[in-house]
This record gives sequence, C-alpha cells and structure tokens, in this order.
Amino acid sequence: MKKAIYPGSFDPLTLGHVDMIVRSSRIVDELVVGVLNNSAKNSLFSLAERVSMIKEMTNSIPNVTVTSFDGLLVEYMKEIDANIIIRGLRAVTDFEYELQIAQTNRVQNHDVETIFLTTSLQYSYLSSTIVKEFASYGGDISKFVPPEFIDRIYAKYDISK
Ligand code: PNS
Repeated sequence: MKKAIYPGSFDPLTLGHVDMIVRSSRIVDELVVGVLNNSAKNSLFSLAERVSMIKEMTNSIPNVTVTSFDGLLVEYMKEIDANIIIRGLRAVTDFEYELQIAQTNRVQNHDVETIFLTTSLQYSYLSSTIVKEFASYGGDISKFVPPEFIDRIYAKYDISK
C-alpha cells in the first residue's frame, strides 16, 4: 500500500497544485494533501480556509484526503504512516531547494522517499506568490486558480469584480 503526502502551504491552491494532486493520486494508493500550519508565514488564507478550499477541489477523487500539520513533515508522516513525499519541480531554480529538503528529510528518516513530478508545461511558471501578487493589483487570475476561488481571492484584497 503506497501512502504519500503532498505537502505545501497552498496559499492559495493553484491550478498547478490541482494538476499535481490529480496526477500523483494516480501513482499512489492513498494521497494526503498536507497543509502546513506555518504561523511564522503571513498567509492570505487561514489554515481552515486552505484546507476547505482543497477539499472542495478534490472531493471527487476517492483516494485523496486533506489534512493540516504542524512541525516537521517527517514526524507527521510517522503519525499518518506515509513514507512518500510528492513535490513538483517547475524549473531548475526549484531543484536546489527541493533537493536539500528531500535529502534532509531522508537523513531524518531513511524510510522516506521523495518523488518529484515535473509540473505540466502550462503551469510551469505558476506559484501561489505570483497569484497573490497579480490579484493584489486586480490582475486577471483566471488562468492561475480554479474559477471557484477567483472572487474569494480578490475579496482578500477588497477588490470586487
Ligand atoms: O508550498 P511550500 O511552502 O513550498 O511547502 C514547503 C513545505 C511545507 C513542503 C516545507 O516547508 C515543509 O515540509 N515544512 C515543514 C517543516 C519541515 O519538515 N521542514 C524540513 C525541511 S528541511
């Protein structure tokens, strides 16, 4: 039984994340989308909002569940009995950071493997940071996030469209 976690901040979930979730759910038996409760980061959406938005987008995929976690990823993985981490690689600029995290996690727990999926070409430029930057100026984010989220994101910047 292959149980994996797709961890991240998901602030907010982008179409690139959705693509990663759909594709990785086909590779493993069970996929947990783990939303990091990072109190140090000033997030646009609360933890509860982020979890509920991801649930909204994944409730039709039977082997995907959504949870949140605090602290070290490898510790949380022990709790939920998962040993695979899924991460997306957009460009070579992601590689150094991702490699460092993957290796650190494996030093911490040798049973943990990280699987990198290359992001689909149409989302290779996309990040939650870009979405927030664009939305904050009232830019068109319809190609970046699920349609259901567009108004909710603008609302965070007091923008009504
Ligand atoms: O979407 P992000 O913000 O790039 O996700 C980063 C994430 C959540 C995968 C990473 O920060 C993480 O795993 N944080 C939990 C703390 C931890 O285990 N850190 C170890 C890395 S050395």
